[in-house]
Amino acid sequence: MFKINLIVLVIGLTCLTSCKSDSNNKIEKENISKITSPTVLEKRFQKLLDYPVGATNFPRSMSLNPEVIHKVNSNDWTSGFFPGNLWLIFKLTGNNKYANRAKLWTALMENQKTNNRTHDMGFKVYCSFGEGLKIDPDNAYYKSVILESAKTLSTRYDRKVGLIRSWDFNKDVWDFPVIIDNMMNLELLFEATKISGDSTFYNIAVKHANNTLKNQFRPDGSVFHVVNYDTITGQVKTKDTHQGFNVKSSWARGQAWAIYGYTMAYRYTKDSKYLSQAEQTLKFYMEHKNLPRDGVPYWDFNDPGIPNAPRDVSAAALVSSAAFELYKFTKNKHFLNFGIKLINVLNSESYLLSETVNGPFVLDHSTGNWPKKDEIDQPIVYADYYFLEALLRQENLKS
Ligand code: GLY
Repeated sequence: MFKINLIVLVIGLTCLTSCKSDSNNKIEKENISKITSPTVLEKRFQKLLDYPVGATNFPRSMSLNPEVIHKVNSNDWTSGFFPGNLWLIFKLTGNNKYANRAKLWTALMENQKTNNRTHDMGFKVYCSFGEGLKIDPDNAYYKSVILESAKTLSTRYDRKVGLIRSWDFNKDVWDFPVIIDNMMNLELLFEATKISGDSTFYNIAVKHANNTLKNQFRPDGSVFHVVNYDTITGQVKTKDTHQGFNVKSSWARGQAWAIYGYTMAYRYTKDSKYLSQAEQTLKFYMEHKNLPRDGVPYWDFNDPGIPNAPRDVSAAALVSSAAFELYKFTKNKHFLNFGIKLINVLNSESYLLSETVNGPFVLDHSTGNWPKKDEIDQPIVYADYYFLEALLRQENLKS
């Protein structure tokens, strides 16, 4: 039983006829014509199901020539996405085999609940246990893991700075680094307050979101990757990048984390300044002169190598998912059409991983860390997560 891809196709074709007058949101005919058949996506899902379960086997990314899967254990920041992908495929297909597999992978993440050396707790625990809880809302085991993880993440909050510390490395360069990605971890805290009734988590999340809003954005709506704070005064010391081209550039996935992060923060708080920021940053992305016509960005909007720079499908997948939620809150059709456009483009031969590749991934052409020349133009697990979530969000918008 597979229905989503057909629905996506129908909406895409409807939009092809109805969205033509919209100059910012034109659906290019060449993208629509490449929509693949449902069986292509189903075959890829089967590869995720067949992939062997193991504590050191979490698939993170994959080089294609030769075909080598980059496997990690639950410590890695990306580990929670693979269980999440299986939960999301279960929701998309209704096939219990995916839920059973997701349960096994999710249980392997439990040991992260006391890991206080990382801010990536939300990515790890909310994408795995959180997705499981959405399906089984009374599951006491999932609730307890989420709660303990939120307590652990809260230990990284500094009252003077008013933010959660991101990284522990590079201590000679940064006193207290905060990266825009960290916005994504707030979902775990918001949910922990909902589960427990303890507002401590909510309050930390709001402080973090407010201070990030104050210090991390540029007037044009784009976002710095890293802001470094002074732990004595609590003031900003430096603004920096780690994964972008340079400090003045706009790293594509950083913009996407910001759009998604502030849309999500609005969902829990209904604070209009979060919604405004998400809208402004999405407009920056959509209207950027260096955004390719198909909406899938180069890894950094300011790479001087454009148009010969690698793309980052993970950023496009994130923006697609966020655009659907932003549409839900704003009713701005530009955002809906852009989300649909991205979903259709990603769900095409241009970006789906080739059927011949034997790896547990759905999409190709993401860029992990360009400055380190690591994971360039490859399948990466988090691109699949946000793509699958976007498919589901698109479906849910209709109900
Ligand atoms: N959070 C790390 C990254 O986006 O690569």
